[in-house]
Amino acid sequence: MIDLRSDTVTQPTPAMWDAMRAASLGDDTLEGDATVQALEALGASRAGKDAALFVVSGTMGNLLASLCYATRGGEAVLDAHAHMAKSEAGGVARIAHLYPVSVPSRYGEMDLNVLADVLRPGFSRYGQPTAMVCVETTHNHSGGYVPSLGYMEQVRGLASHAGIAVHADGARAFNAAVSLGVELAQLAAHCDSITLCLSKGLSAPMGSILAGSHEFIAQARTFRRMVGGGLRQAGIMAAAGVVALESMVERLADDHRRAQRLWQGLADLDATLVDPAPSRSNIVRLRVDKQRTADARAWEHALEQHGVLARASGAGALRLVTHRHIEDADIEHAIDAIARIRAE
Ligand SMILES: Cc1ncc(COP(=O)(O)O)c(C=O)c1O
Repeated sequence: MIDLRSDTVTQPTPAMWDAMRAASLGDDTLEGDATVQALEALGASRAGKDAALFVVSGTMGNLLASLCYATRGGEAVLDAHAHMAKSEAGGVARIAHLYPVSVPSRYGEMDLNVLADVLRPGFSRYGQPTAMVCVETTHNHSGGYVPSLGYMEQVRGLASHAGIAVHADGARAFNAAVSLGVELAQLAAHCDSITLCLSKGLSAPMGSILAGSHEFIAQARTFRRMVGGGLRQAGIMAAAGVVALESMVERLADDHRRAQRLWQGLADLDATLVDPAPSRSNIVRLRVDKQRTADARAWEHALEQHGVLARASGAGALRLVTHRHIEDADIEHAIDAIARIRAE
């Protein structure tokens, strides 16, 4: 099977297995675990932030950030298609008790006029202050689009003018940095805190990094304990994370190249199958709403019959994600499968 459902299906590399076996371990919530500390130091330095915290998932990283910014309540400003708004079980509202305010977005970039309008530096007659503004890069729901650095800078400018923090859901921020041709720290300079996933294209078996100021990370550590994320001999997992940060970032460019080939192959078949431009990261949105069979679930099934796994994303589209286990020949196979299904 050619598994294009997600980059989260990636298995640990042999170097990760070796590092996991050799990791020196401690109790991370007692005296500390040296491997976790090494990962956190590396994560902080890659993100250009003071400090970092190893957490079990991207969702937990985003939740801890929400809890940190929510100490005085208020509103969370998110784009209407944000993963934090749509796919994290409502933790922003249900656990952090922030009122979510959504801003329309296009290809992952919020409408800046609307954003400027909804930001509240303090209490107003009708609402509480904005506790945080969230950006997402790369943007999952829009098909892996990479918000420009100019956009990130403008969001930060608007927020900081109002004294409001910006959190980046950077589950795939390394993909964004590679795609933009910049260091992660250049991108993360436009936010106060950032979540980075190790378990997606970077191939680690689990874990994310939350990075920010010393004070922010100290708070997040306490909130991690509160939500049951205090870890013990977590160095086993952190060891794979160190390998991920040290050796798995540059190869993301291969995933991007293959995703662009997939986009081009589909565009050559029928321009309505894809977005007008490729995302330049590792996700391709297959649009089936203009096809004879317009149901994404039916396409999921048909693709499986042709040896390709993909996931429906809404009623008329599927998400195809390239990653370390996808080769050039797999991309050609997937294009061919889609051509055959259209002809059936
Ligand atoms: C943009 C984005 N943010 C956050 C997450 C959550 O990560 P996790 O599955 O590790 O909780 C995902 C997962 O796919 C994601 O795509």
